[in-house]
Amino acid sequence: MPKSPLFLHLVVVVLVAGWGVASSATLTPERQRELIHLLRQDCGACHGMRLKGGLGPALVPERLRSFSTEQLAATILNGRPGTPMPPWSPFLSQQEANWLAERLKQGDVP
Ligand code: HEC
Repeated sequence: MPKSPLFLHLVVVVLVAGWGVASSATLTPERQRELIHLLRQDCGACHGMRLKGGLGPALVPERLRSFSTEQLAATILNGRPGTPMPPWSPFLSQQEANWLAERLKQGDVP
């Protein structure tokens, strides 16, 4: 197989796609449903039932795309000391916080 730029490009695409599948596959569909429920009920209590804002700011892609997934996940896990935003680390793993952050950034909250 010649190591052409196209070939290398394909290798990168396949690796990235495979990683994405592997990282989301470890959250079961049931846990994903629970997390969406948490987002709507618990986060929605402050951020609005439709996440358009309330006591907390709107969690919509237009606002969140300026943050990285890691930054948003850190806010979710640690909260914002001195504000009403509580830490969710007792309830969520790092991976689950990343998953929620990605959903919010993409506006993919069914
Ligand atoms: C008790 C109210 C409350 C609850 C419950 C709550 N938040 Fe927040 N959240 C806030 C407030 C207030 C802020 C703004 C903090 C600040 O002023 O920086 C915030 C900020 C955030 C931010 C940063 C957004 C930004 O633009 O700075 C994210 C992301 C976030 N919350 C996600 C969540 C998620 C996900 C949940 C549920 C797991 C949740 N929040 C539950 C009150 C809440």
